[in-house]
This record gives sequence, structure tokens and C-alpha cells, in this order.
Amino acid sequence: MRQITLCLLFLFAASSLFCSVAVAKAPEITKTEKGMFAPIKAAEAPSGVKAVQIKLGQQLFHDKRLSKNHDISCNSCHTVTNYGVDGEPTSPGHKGHRGGRNSPTVMNAFAHLSQFWDGRAADVEAQAKGPVLAAGEMAMPSAEAVVATLNSIPGYVTTFKAAFPNEKAPVSYDNFAKAVGAFERQLSTPSRFDKYLEGDEKALTDAEKVGFKTFISTGCTMCHNGALLGGNLYQKVGLVKAWPNQKDQGRFDLTKNEAEKMMFKVPSLRNIEKTGPYFHDGQTADLSTAVKMMAEYQLGKQLSDADTASIITFLKSTTAEPAAEYLKTPALPKSGPKTPAPDPS
Ligand code: HEC
Ligand code: HEC
Repeated sequence: MRQITLCLLFLFAASSLFCSVAVAKAPEITKTEKGMFAPIKAAEAPSGVKAVQIKLGQQLFHDKRLSKNHDISCNSCHTVTNYGVDGEPTSPGHKGHRGGRNSPTVMNAFAHLSQFWDGRAADVEAQAKGPVLAAGEMAMPSAEAVVATLNSIPGYVTTFKAAFPNEKAPVSYDNFAKAVGAFERQLSTPSRFDKYLEGDEKALTDAEKVGFKTFISTGCTMCHNGALLGGNLYQKVGLVKAWPNQKDQGRFDLTKNEAEKMMFKVPSLRNIEKTGPYFHDGQTADLSTAVKMMAEYQLGKQLSDADTASIITFLKSTTAEPAAEYLKTPALPKSGPKTPAPDPS
């Protein structure tokens, strides 16, 4: 009734658009449809040793001394206050070098079936060992050099001992990765969409429910399903129509298996409005373009502007941040006399 009165009022202000939006009724979304998804929860805040590991991991995530020139940390490319991304198509690493792939968000990444666009690391712990030693990223010469740097910082030696008690050599590259992984496992971002999945019908607006229905009926859910709306399978990009950029062949480059040409891990769509530019090569920063390309190349459909906007309205309901303590830049322990100097070479 209130909506109708509002519409009548606005009619005189030639606001027919507002009216048609306001009266769009929420579609029925079945249990089976909802069942393609699952709510996520906020990370529990553990106590004891686990809490020490998380705190240590948070420091390591932000510590630029773990890069050759002391100018890059994990947070440079995966900025936690920016939904876990740097907003670049591809990220500048050591000496400004840019790789061929877009930096995906670290938010919720721990819950993916694997890590990286091609899934070449099993989990966030295994993943964390890569970037520090990658020549085009943090460019440290070896795992031993990283451990030497950590050992040169007295505060870290103390914290590693506390985080990995009863170990003979608590300061190790493995434990570095475990601590970083422990921190990343806290980066869960439950949103209004999760409240809705848990049964709170009011958690989404009618327009968002319309968008949810459009997302489902268009067929996006063939690949973007589960708790993260993705992150749980590999698929070919360009399934029904050849993808324009064929330079990076995804999993094929890794496995040399013909059947895996152009196969990538299906990205999670949580926080998608905040994590552009999009696709493995960061080719577009415009979410509408990305959604329309998906419909065309993955499903053989031309999506209207209205349906595209509607899907995006829905996707925005997944926007959320992890607990505030994980967004903080932690104080870092002071360097010692043996801490190596920055090396710009
Ligand atoms: C110079 C930029 C850069 C730095 C520094 C960097 N990363 Fe990344 N990160 C990337 C890129 C690019 C990818 C994707 C590479 C690929 O798929 O081949 C990636 C992928 C990831 C992923 C996988 C996410 C997913 O959806 O599969 C995680 C997790 C991650 N990085 C965590 C870290 C951590 C932890 C550090 C620090 C130890 C770090 N990154 C440092 C650029 C960076
Ligand atoms: C057949 C599987 C499949 C279908 C169907 C599909 N996608 Fe995707 N989607 C993918 C894959 C694979 C990627 C990664 C492609 C790449 O980066 O090259 C992707 C990437 C995306 C991205 C960019 C994510 C990022 O972080 O860069 C968005 C946005 C997206 N999909 C939305 C949609 C929407 C909306 C629909 C429905 C219109 C849809 N997708 C249908 C498989 C699919």
C-alpha cells in the first residue's frame, strides 16, 4: 500500500522508472535453487597457539622486508583494506615487473578447491611459499635467505617460538607459510546473502532477489555455485565461443593435457563489485562488460542491459569484509644488526 502511494506521488514527478522498480515483486526462489549455494560463517577467533600463529601471519603478510628491495609485501598486491586486491589489471612486483595474470583476492581464498588461476597450489599454506621467491614478485633469492631475514629480526624469533612451540627449528620457511595461511584462513566475509540463505527473507531486497533469480535462470550457476559462487571447479573460459585472449592457456600450460586448454579455476563471485579488473588477464574493469562476456562466451546468450544490471544488483549483496582486526596494519618487530639491506638490483 505504501509503495502504491509512493508511486502515485512520484508519477507526477515523471518517475515511472522508480515505480516499475518499486513494484517489481520478489520472485519465488525454490529450496532447490537456494540449495545450489551455502552460507559462509565468520571465522572463529581461536585462542592459544593458533591465535599466536594468526597474529604472526598477519605481520608476515604486511612485512616488506620479505621482498628483495623491502618494497613489496603480500598486502601490496592483496590489500586487505581493499577487499584483498590492488585494483590493477596485473600487479607490479620487483622493479615494477608485471606478470601476465591478475591478482585474485585473498578474501575467502582459503576455501577454494585449490589456489591460483590454474589451481597449481593445493592450499593457502602451499601458495604462500610462491610469491616471496618469484623473481617478478618479491624476488627473494631462496627460502634460506627468507629464513635468515626472519632470524635477523629478534621479535620474529620470539614469536615463531611461541607460535610453534616444542619445535627444534621454529623459524622455518614451512612455518612462515603455516602462519601466513593461518592468517588467511580468518579472511571469511559473510554478507547479507548468507543471512538470506540462512532463512532471513528480509536480508535481500526485492530487486536483489530478482537479480538472484536472473543469475540462476541465465545459467551462471552452472559454474558459479556453492558457498563462494565459484572457487570449486575448473572450467573452460570460452566454453561455447572462443575466448578473445588465447595467450594464457590456463591449466594446459601446467599439465600439457589437451583437454585442459583454456581451463581456469572458476573464480568466486563474492565481493565481485570490489575486486576488478576482471578475468585472469584483468582485461576489463567494467563489471557489466564482464557479466555480458560471460553470458556470451560461456552460455551463448546475449544478456540485455536490464538483466545485466539485475545480476549485478544481486552480486553486490555478497559484498562484505572480514572482522575489523584483520584489516589492520600490524606493528612489525624491529630489524636487527644482521637484517639485510634493501637490494634494488
Ligand atoms: C606482485 C604481486 C603479488 C604479491 C607480492 C603477492 N601476490 Fe599473491 N597473487 C598474485 C598473482 C598475480 C596471483 C595469481 C597468479 C596465478 O594464478 O598464476 C596471486 C595469487 C594468490 C593467491 C591465490 C588466490 C586464488 O584465488 O587462487 C593467494 C592466496 C595469494 N596470492 C596470496 C599471497 C600471499 C600470502 C602473498 C605474500 C606471501 C602474496 N600473495 C604476494 C600477485 C601477488
Ligand atoms: C561454463 C562455466 C561458466 C559459466 C556458465 C559462467 N562463468 Fe563466469 N567464469 C568462469 C570462468 C572459468 C571464469 C574465469 C575466466 C578467466 O579469468 O579467464 C569466470 C569469470 C567470471 C567473472 C570474473 C571474475 C574475476 O574475479 O575476475 C565474473 C564476474 C563472472 N565469471 C560472472 C559470471 C556470470 C554473471 C555468469 C552468468 C551470466 C557466468 N559468470 C557464467 C566460468 C563460467
